[in-house]
Amino acid sequence: MTAPTPKPGILDIELYVGGRSSVPGAAKVYKLSSNESALGPSPLAVAALTAAAHDLERYPDGSSRLLRDAIARAYEIDAERIVVGGEGSGPLLTMIANAYLTPGDEAVFSRHAFLLYEIATRANSAKPVIVAEKVTNSGIRIDVEAMLAAVTAKTRLVYIANPNNPTGSYLTRDEIKRLHAGLPANVLLVIDAAYGEFCDAPDYDTGLELARDYDNVVMTRTFSKIHGLAALRLGWAFVPRAVADVLNRIRGPFPTSPLQQQAGAAAILDTAHVARTATHNAKWRTWLINEIRGLGLKVDDSAANFVLIHFSPGARDAKAADAFLIARGVILRGVGAYGLPDALRLTVGSEEANRAAVAALQEFMG
Ligand SMILES: Cc1ncc(COP(=O)(O)O)c(C=O)c1O
Repeated sequence: MTAPTPKPGILDIELYVGGRSSVPGAAKVYKLSSNESALGPSPLAVAALTAAAHDLERYPDGSSRLLRDAIARAYEIDAERIVVGGEGSGPLLTMIANAYLTPGDEAVFSRHAFLLYEIATRANSAKPVIVAEKVTNSGIRIDVEAMLAAVTAKTRLVYIANPNNPTGSYLTRDEIKRLHAGLPANVLLVIDAAYGEFCDAPDYDTGLELARDYDNVVMTRTFSKIHGLAALRLGWAFVPRAVADVLNRIRGPFPTSPLQQQAGAAAILDTAHVARTATHNAKWRTWLINEIRGLGLKVDDSAANFVLIHFSPGARDAKAADAFLIARGVILRGVGAYGLPDALRLTVGSEEANRAAVAALQEFMG
């Protein structure tokens, strides 16, 4: 008798390890490892969450209508085309793979992409097709032509994070359009805009425009980043009607709690808080990039709420920097699992955290 065996591919999955959050013995800890919000959630969202904490014995509205209506209002889109995920946007990305990938199919994504794309692909016994980025002076960028060249008759999904984690780079509206235009109609383009609100470049679009107009484009968003609600676990996707029909068939029957629905609705409608957070981020992102470059380190341009810092092999490599900073209570994210062993990712934090990070890096660089 053999032991129960999972589907092919599952045991090839590397465990996802989240950003470190504690330093034993440190008096003060600055957690800059998980791209969380520097300003936290909207007070209106927290108030809505608290006010919703009653009638907990009852099942929630399984269609998450209140939340979908709030998102629809905020973005002027069709609520019927919104699917919400009560465990963040990550599981929505997985649900898309569960719905569209069969064994032997291919999903295309870039080499330094968000780890979940590969996990979701392998979990469906499908084949990850990993495409090298272009390395430019400003950073590591997704190569649209190379992505298109990787598409075969077996391709069902193309995942793009825009801006991308952990590189921080983004594709312009025109580049995404070019990517979409080169895809066969039966390939679903998944645009993961988890960091979309942080990108202030005029030539950027979250993917909303393309998703509105085409039957093979979906855009996913999260409440974990600019809305400062990572612990609430809430995400949403804007999808073609046919895709909404598919995802609604396979999603859990009650994906979001009333607490999530009320807090999420309040957060998405508090555009002043979103704007405040984006302004803080833009200011301190520039400051961090300039200060860290001033220490002689290579830092890529960033359109998100984090920056990627490159270290050189030797005594002052990324591992040594990570250990040095951790000893001072400053936690960055090693990105070896993303194929970038010589880099660390630093989340834009509060002024105090940013200054602490730069001071520790300055001491490290000696
Ligand atoms: C690119 C990208 N997409 C999606 C997510 C998932 O976020 P959540 O599941 O918290 O919505 C993350 C989280 O770090 C991310 O970096």
